[in-house]
Amino acid sequence: MADIDAMIEQLDVILKAAVDAFAAAGDREALQQLRVRYLGKKGALTEVLKGVGKLSPEDRPVIGQHVNRTKAALAESLEQREIELAEKAKTARIEAEKADITLPGRKKTGGALHPVQLGLDEITAVFAQMGFVVAEGPEIEDEFHNFDALNIPPEHPARAMHDTFFLKDLQTNDEQPMLLRTHTSPVQIRAMKRFLAEGGEPPLAVVAPGRVYRCDYDVTHSPMFHQVEVFKVDRKVSMAHLKGVLKHFLSTYFEKDVAIRLRPHYFPFTEPSAEVDIGCVFCAGKGCRICKGSGWIEVLGSGMIHPNVLKSVGIDAQEFSGFAFGLGVERLVMLKQGIPDLRLFFENDVRFLRRMGASR
Ligand code: DAH
Repeated sequence: MADIDAMIEQLDVILKAAVDAFAAAGDREALQQLRVRYLGKKGALTEVLKGVGKLSPEDRPVIGQHVNRTKAALAESLEQREIELAEKAKTARIEAEKADITLPGRKKTGGALHPVQLGLDEITAVFAQMGFVVAEGPEIEDEFHNFDALNIPPEHPARAMHDTFFLKDLQTNDEQPMLLRTHTSPVQIRAMKRFLAEGGEPPLAVVAPGRVYRCDYDVTHSPMFHQVEVFKVDRKVSMAHLKGVLKHFLSTYFEKDVAIRLRPHYFPFTEPSAEVDIGCVFCAGKGCRICKGSGWIEVLGSGMIHPNVLKSVGIDAQEFSGFAFGLGVERLVMLKQGIPDLRLFFENDVRFLRRMGASR
């Protein structure tokens, strides 16, 4: 005969061990395992029930009551712990998600256009307002457009390796060397050819902004820089038109009435050719360090389009004439904003970019 007292004691031991184990369970998964261990089909209570058959008939209901009570106590303790754990998990999540409202805010800094881009846009806009049509050409050019069609002879120094980036593995279909364009003047050729191919007849007035490349690097030279090419072809175009357009452009760009002067020069693609100076914007022509005491600053190259250039695209140079000029964007922006070193544009120091980008 089994001893009912021993069984009751065993139930008490189980209950106490279970309650301790529930309290020690750190999460719901551990608790679930304990439920199986104590209340499951093969759990500790079932184990005790197996012994019931060995009790006397009058003891059986007594132990039955004890088992049920223990079961209820276990279930309640388990549920209690479950609630506790859920509460704990919630608190932990809130803690983890808590924002520190005393931290300084993250500042959103607005972007700004690069000062060179601002300059390009500004310059292009002045010509667009005068009725010049905006055109672009490829940065990878062939010798014909960059040199030959512009009346630049084969032995011209600009064609030397040390000035021009030739793309040594690249050729056109007719086996011309290809290169990074050294100026925007080839857009003259491309724009005129396109215009004529579409059945156009002069007048034609074009402004062509873009990137150009030369093998050079110092305070005033960068291997990549920007130019704006401007030209007009029509009947009876003269130097007077050139000068008028230049005067209007330069005074608009510098936002004051700047003096201009055309100085005879040589360019293969213009005849006559002139370099254009403006009255020094720093000393108003009195003479300073920037203009080296002369009162004048050189800003661009210009001239009347050479008849050979017009001929190269099939325009009758007897009937039509044109002016053209090309300017360096970085140089004009430096003069307008008083920037001393060209390399500042390309080092991309945000302090510089922020200041110059916003300066308009
Ligand atoms: N292409 C010349 C250069 O890069 C600039 C230039 C000079 C363009 C005279 C012109 C011009 O259209 O007429 O140095």
